[in-house]
Amino acid sequence: MTTGANQLVLLSGTSHPALAQEIADYLNIKLGQVDLDTFPDGEISLQLLENVRGKDVFVVQSVAINPNFFLMELLIMVDALRRSSARSIAAVIPYYGYCRQDRKDKARVPITAKLVANLLEKAGVDRVLTMDLHANQVQGFFDIPVDNLYAMPNLVKAVRDLRLTNFVVAAPDSGSIKLAKEYAQYLGVDFIVVDKERLSSKDVVVTSVIGNAQGKDVLLVDDICSTAGTLVAAANACKHAGAGRIFASTSHPMLVGNALERLKNSPIEKLLVANTIPTNVEGNEKISVISVANLFGEAIRRVMNAESISSLFHRP
Ligand code: R5P
Repeated sequence: MTTGANQLVLLSGTSHPALAQEIADYLNIKLGQVDLDTFPDGEISLQLLENVRGKDVFVVQSVAINPNFFLMELLIMVDALRRSSARSIAAVIPYYGYCRQDRKDKARVPITAKLVANLLEKAGVDRVLTMDLHANQVQGFFDIPVDNLYAMPNLVKAVRDLRLTNFVVAAPDSGSIKLAKEYAQYLGVDFIVVDKERLSSKDVVVTSVIGNAQGKDVLLVDDICSTAGTLVAAANACKHAGAGRIFASTSHPMLVGNALERLKNSPIEKLLVANTIPTNVEGNEKISVISVANLFGEAIRRVMNAESISSLFHRP
């Protein structure tokens, strides 16, 4: 495989070294070495142990689970790369943290997705590779190229392996309609919508199911599963509406709080999750982790060779 190997350096922050290693394996290169440490008061310190002068450097860092730390670590790595004369710096952010606050939907709130874009650009990032942005418009918060990849090809393959015959795709809330519709089109099935109301960042209630779930299996599709409140409420609503078996798929499995307990006690038979965020679900029979490392690896290869990335996502 051509990777422009002499020119390419792949580094990992501490958020998701396993995914970074898988991407390196796909590209058939070694991960670059970084000495990452913290001062006793918690400040991050680091030193690049590679010569990056004149190189195209890709830094893999998911901004999730401990987003404040991982974002700062990424910014500090980018600063070190810029001061070490890297030719270009690409931030590979499988989960773009702070993306959920992407507009002023009430008075006196921040737009954190824009703030993060400003911070990355100011630090010296030349390009962002990310996956399933919560809102596509976040790309417009940057004045540098943003490649928003889709976990869909790999998740759809896993859905096909479930061998469902009579099923619909369901958006568990109005925010997921676009994504769920794409899955439905990709899979060639109908789609329905669950009408959700968020009571707080932890609690949701479902008011109704729009569309016909009666007698059909349901695949719920959401970009993020945080506390699993949304998916589980939607699963219960679909059951109530006469659905058969319930499955779910998500690109960004935060699985925080009592998400695992909630999922265990829910009608969801299987949750397919992409590995944009590290999870601790080994041995959990309800959850299958689907790697998206090949998509990031291939996107990096194509960036290096100035090839199209969008053609990676053409429907089969
Ligand atoms: C919301 O806009 C997102 O698409 C997800 O529905 C939400 O983040 C899921 O959160 P939770 O799992 O805590 O209900």
